[in-house]
Amino acid sequence: MTAELDAIAQKMVADGKGILAADESGGTIKKRFDAIGVESTEENRRDYRELMFRSQGMDYISGVILYDETIRQKAKDGTPLVSVIEKAGAIPGIKVDAGAKPQPFCPGETITEGLDGLAGRLKEYYDLGARFAKWRAVIDIDTTKHIPSYTSLRANAHALARYAALCQEAKIVPIVEPEVLMDGAHDIDTCYRVTEWALKTVFEELYYQRVRLEGMVLKPNMIVPGKKSPVQASVAEVAEKTVRVLKACVPTAVPGIAFLSGGQSDEDATAHLDAMVKLGGLPWKLTYSYGRALQAAPQKAWSGKPENVAKAQAAFAHRAHMNSLAALGKWSA
Ligand code: 13P
Repeated sequence: MTAELDAIAQKMVADGKGILAADESGGTIKKRFDAIGVESTEENRRDYRELMFRSQGMDYISGVILYDETIRQKAKDGTPLVSVIEKAGAIPGIKVDAGAKPQPFCPGETITEGLDGLAGRLKEYYDLGARFAKWRAVIDIDTTKHIPSYTSLRANAHALARYAALCQEAKIVPIVEPEVLMDGAHDIDTCYRVTEWALKTVFEELYYQRVRLEGMVLKPNMIVPGKKSPVQASVAEVAEKTVRVLKACVPTAVPGIAFLSGGQSDEDATAHLDAMVKLGGLPWKLTYSYGRALQAAPQKAWSGKPENVAKAQAAFAHRAHMNSLAALGKWSA
């Protein structure tokens, strides 16, 4: 079982490939569709995701994170979407958390739910073809309110570790995602400090839950200033600080780190990854597990119109190709 897990984890971070996060919940995909004037129906959601899974962009995708609805859906021609993804050479994955809910006694903070019954759901997802999973813990920063608190950070790290152990027992590779949000006005060094605390806590909990580091993938944020911070950072500073915090916190047994984009512009997400890989001397693979930074362009190009499918596929393939080059340290602006 461990060899199987390790092999999947390594495939997820194969050279020049990254993960497509297409696991937007019902609420989130509605928000994205609202922005392009498309009604969020089951058919539209299927058509949109199918166009990506059938594009050239899949040459640069090792795995696709799906939502519960999508892993059960069939393409227009009746082929299960899972088979479309597999035929494109990628591994199907599944988001298994039940979302971030307000945490008692921690105003302004959340705890990610979804552990109850998870073992049973993982078994079903395995049978549906999922070979990896994702769970996202959300860590906000508000220094005026002492956020994050120890209480919330510890509880979220513990839940991530419980999830990861359940996944590995079900022969599913866990993507462990502690996301320190880039909302707010904090500076880059505050992001560094909170991310360091979050990662140290997560790896401590993973150890206590006996999670096999060789059979997981870490999905962290990059070290960036808050979006509303008056002082923004250069690409070189983001790359240097992100690599520094990861080297301080992430054991070398972890095969790969696949970043979230978190609201960065498409090009920033690509440039930051490229700059980190160019630094060299890294003990793990670095790659992408982007949602917005891979999908914003194709969503806009598609806008719900069948005649725009080819244009949307080209837009997706372009972003995927640029990020693939970045993961190889071969991208240039
Ligand atoms: P973004 O790249 O849009 O942050 O999404 C990645 C993801 O899966 C967040 O959980």
